[in-house]
Amino acid sequence: MLNIIMLGPPCSGKGTHAHLISENFHLAHISTGDLFRAEIKKSSPIGIMAQRLIDHGNFIPDSITMKILYQHIFNNPSPEGYLFDGFPRTLAQAEVFTKYLEKHNQSIDLVLYLNAPEEELMARMYKRAIVDNRADDNNEVFVTRLKNYYSLTHILTEYYLAQGKLAPINTNKPIKEVSDQIFRIINELTETKK
Ligand code: AP5
Ligand code: MG
Repeated sequence: MLNIIMLGPPCSGKGTHAHLISENFHLAHISTGDLFRAEIKKSSPIGIMAQRLIDHGNFIPDSITMKILYQHIFNNPSPEGYLFDGFPRTLAQAEVFTKYLEKHNQSIDLVLYLNAPEEELMARMYKRAIVDNRADDNNEVFVTRLKNYYSLTHILTEYYLAQGKLAPINTNKPIKEVSDQIFRIINELTETKK
């Protein structure tokens, strides 16, 4: 059982590397951003509410985020472990989630903190805006997403550093180089857990 968190600003590579890790290490990939986008597609009540916030780069309230996350875990049990992409995103989410895991005799093993210079994050967003169709991939909303990351999420680097779980990863390199580094870290961790 291995539980990993992917932490980092928008376009730092959380989704890209979450896909590569989950394939290689057979972990269930949970992106709260993807869960909300699926609700938006269904035009469910949560989706309608989420769209208004996401389209402006603002976070979904913690209580709703926790509800949708727990529901998804319950419906998709993964004995090998989970890869949390873009969750937790606030200190409150992290604290509640730590207690939830403790209650289930589980814990977070590793927090991959991905980062690259802001100009690079912005350039990736512009590039993706051409091929994908995310309403939050534009200059104005991206600035808000970055601002919210620094004011609400970045503190989690300290929270997990204090627990000895944080692995900072510079993603300003080719994807293959970054994933080789990440795979080495996870392999070392699985060896020590044996
Ligand atoms: P979410 O979907 O999580 O978006 P995000 O955090 O803004 O991050 P992105 O998905 O844009 O980037 P990423 O880090 O996954 O990078 P990627 O691999 O795609 O959340 C969206 C919204 O949902 C939030 O703003 C919020 O409103 C809401 N939300 C979600 N979770 C929430 C929560 N827990 N609580 C409250 N609200 C929540 O890469 C980006 C691009 O760069 C890609 O095109 C990729 O191909 C490219 N790329 C990646 N790595 C490299 C590289 N090394 N070199 C060159 N290009 C690269
Ligand atoms: Mg993503």
